[in-house]
Amino acid sequence: MSTVVAETTTPSEPTLREGAFGHAKGLSCRECGHEVELGPHYACPECFGPLEIAYDFPQVTREEIEAGPANIWRYKALLPVPSDIEQSPNMEPGFTRLLRANNLGRELGIDNLWVKDDSTNPTNSFKDRVVACALSAATEFHAKVFACPSTGNLANAVAAAGARAGIKTVVFIPSNLEKPKQVNSAVYTDSLIAVNGNYDDVNKLASEIAGEEDGWAFVNVNVRPYYAEGSKTLGYEIAEQLGWRLPDQIVIPVASGSQLTKVDKAFQELIKLGLVEDKPYKVYGAQAEGCSPVSVAYKAGVDAIRPVKPDTIAKSLAIGNPADGIYVLDICRRTGGAVEDITDDQVREAIVLLARTEGIFTETAGGTTVGVLKKLVETGQLDTSLETVVINTGHGLKTLDAVADSVGPAATIDPSYAAFAATGLA
Ligand SMILES: Cc1ncc(COP(=O)(O)O)c(C=O)c1O
Ligand SMILES: [Zn+2]
Repeated sequence: MSTVVAETTTPSEPTLREGAFGHAKGLSCRECGHEVELGPHYACPECFGPLEIAYDFPQVTREEIEAGPANIWRYKALLPVPSDIEQSPNMEPGFTRLLRANNLGRELGIDNLWVKDDSTNPTNSFKDRVVACALSAATEFHAKVFACPSTGNLANAVAAAGARAGIKTVVFIPSNLEKPKQVNSAVYTDSLIAVNGNYDDVNKLASEIAGEEDGWAFVNVNVRPYYAEGSKTLGYEIAEQLGWRLPDQIVIPVASGSQLTKVDKAFQELIKLGLVEDKPYKVYGAQAEGCSPVSVAYKAGVDAIRPVKPDTIAKSLAIGNPADGIYVLDICRRTGGAVEDITDDQVREAIVLLARTEGIFTETAGGTTVGVLKKLVETGQLDTSLETVVINTGHGLKTLDAVADSVGPAATIDPSYAAFAATGLA
């Protein structure tokens, strides 16, 4: 557990208001099941395992959800947020498009393919979902600073959400991050800190600061249990948009692995609540070869994940020591899915493939996911007759350099018909 340094860090000893966390009843250890009261805790006092939110869900109906707003708060009864969450200034993320991808499906030989396009969130990645839940927790804990270590997208989402909520933000990134991701944070905050090191170094620094400073809510460190729940909304939305049905299989990018574990948790909850029919589904994880600790462990058939030093253009997925890696392995194996990785060149090719088949410009993380989908088909690991969803988690405008050398003008011509005709495109 790379992110855990202590059971409780700041923000400390808050007085919690009634209903601050909706139907959440406590925190429960993912390793030993030990239960802890709701609060700014993230590691089990018994075994230091990660804590997650446990609920006492009410009976929730499809109709109640459908009557809610067109954002993640339509699922507020299933999240650790108060019932008046819509009233607080927030980015209102979610309810992004689920697009039928017939052209990409035809290209890959998949009969029934969908793209869940999360690039259209307010700061153009799925991170707006998790940050909205973290902001609610930080507010309830009376945090004075809203912060994160980030591979880029999270910093964008934290900086924007903090600006809108009027809370001070400080965001930490590796100094070698893509320029657009730096600008997309710095435009919202004057406290973007570039750290000379990789994400795992930045994450360690954040844990240290969280232990030293009072009142700092690091979204993915000391309020991680609340933050992580936001990713469940991807799973809820996919099921609702399919007509309250689970897909047969889903392909999800893996950095820390949090998102993948929460989509699975969402599907399980929907089954338990009777909102969808119980049926088997397969979960596949996608990594880039230059940072593939989970894929390597999957292929080796082992349970332990060996941290790596990332070296890939998929910088948003460049977490060498993934906190949720072991749970990703467990889910992909249990459901009959797999974890696969591809080269940087395959990431670039997949970005262009998705753009030219479906009109969706994804960033390197989405290139990784679509490229892995292609590889899963080519290697016979994915049944092409089953209904398949692939998640696009971020926007291509943030990683332009990845494809800047492989696409461009077909010709540069003088403004005359003759010059145009000479290109052969007439
Ligand atoms: C665009 C994008 N997709 C996917 C991920 C992976 O998320 P997780 O850390 O939950 O595995 C990230 C993480 O930063 C990301 O920025
Ligand atoms: Zn424990």
